[in-house]
Amino acid sequence: MRSQVVIVGGGPSGLLLGQLLHRRGVDAVVLERKTRDYVLGRIRAGILETGFVNLMREAGVAERLDRECFIHEGTQIADGNEMFSVNFQELIGESVVLYGQTEVTRDLYDAREAAGARTIFNVDDVEICGADTEAPFVTFTAGGQSHRIDCDFVAGCDGFHGVSRQTIPLTVRKEYEKVYPFGWLGILSETPPVDDELIYANSERGFALCSMRNANLSRYYIQCSLSDRPEDWSDAAFWDELKRRIPEHVADKLVTGPSIEKSIAPLRSFVTEPMRWGRLFLCGDAAHIVPPTGAKGLNTAASDIHYLYHGLMQFYEDKDSEGIDRYSEKALARIWKAERFSWWMTTLLHRFPEMTEFDLKMQQADIAFLRDNVDAQRVMATNYVGLPF
Ligand code: APR
Ligand code: PHB
Repeated sequence: MRSQVVIVGGGPSGLLLGQLLHRRGVDAVVLERKTRDYVLGRIRAGILETGFVNLMREAGVAERLDRECFIHEGTQIADGNEMFSVNFQELIGESVVLYGQTEVTRDLYDAREAAGARTIFNVDDVEICGADTEAPFVTFTAGGQSHRIDCDFVAGCDGFHGVSRQTIPLTVRKEYEKVYPFGWLGILSETPPVDDELIYANSERGFALCSMRNANLSRYYIQCSLSDRPEDWSDAAFWDELKRRIPEHVADKLVTGPSIEKSIAPLRSFVTEPMRWGRLFLCGDAAHIVPPTGAKGLNTAASDIHYLYHGLMQFYEDKDSEGIDRYSEKALARIWKAERFSWWMTTLLHRFPEMTEFDLKMQQADIAFLRDNVDAQRVMATNYVGLPF
């Protein structure tokens, strides 16, 4: 087999890149380890920056998103029993979009199938070969048979646990990581959201987040110990703890119900440099991870895809490699700013086991400054809605 681009990973990064390339006549095959249903079964976040939405529109897959999404002009920050709003629209004239990442991925798969573009599911033993040569190729097994695809380029969109990052020699790549000493216990419930906007809550018992997917599907999180397991938490225990972490006037109107999904996610900040090695380009979670506090996961993948897509088109249409040659530099410049913001939101709103009384005072002062200072709110708004590509 041959393809201009082999995309390893059929998550949102790989699918969005594949759709953008397909619309410009560039052949790309997607290799996905799991099945479409398995990929769509993953529960992920739901805040989209305008930059991501515009990429979906450029890819021609934003019709349902534009019809069904919710526009969020701001967010609420709760500190103990107090709560204040950071209104992005009033502060900087921009908003964010609430639309589940699962729906993004569904729309991308539907578009890919409608276009008849090649996606190979249930692949194993993917190996990226010759990435540092002019003739890379990818081998894999599927259906009990071995396969090889020769290509011009490989896009490693296979997430944090994929093979792409590992293909870059340790003598070439450098990794930066911060692992946080807690996790997020999240549930989905078919209940109306407690507020029209998200509520990020700092409480003496730890962080909580009130989010949503639609008018009758809510998403809630509480900071939990890394030793916790989902089965350690009954629904009743979750709801009781959530109510203790949000302001009373909010807890009083919380509609509880049975969880239809319950899971624990660890929190880490992670970046690998460079994001390119020869003809291999890393995108999305394959190259970087952010703690979910800043809602940046998918949105950081968006700028990677933007830079790589335009770089590849510059190569194919203008025979100019400037875009791909600068891909890693440009992607990392935005990634590190998103890493900083996600780290800042996490540090601002969580209780760390080793916090001293002084540390707590600093955290309280940070929250008070955000509450009282419009410039501090503008800085938060500018980062939350997404820095320019
Ligand atoms: N071969 C083929 N596919 C693989 C391999 C492999 N060796 N390893 C992983 N994959 C697939 C996974 O099954 C997954 O579907 O690659 C895909 C990677 O998708 P994501 O992990 O969702 O990463 P990405 O597409 O970059 O999306 C980033 O998704 O994980 C969230 O919070 C993250 O919002 C962010 C977004
Ligand atoms: C979610 O809705 O799952 C969500 C929203 C905002 C975040 C993290 C997760 O910061």
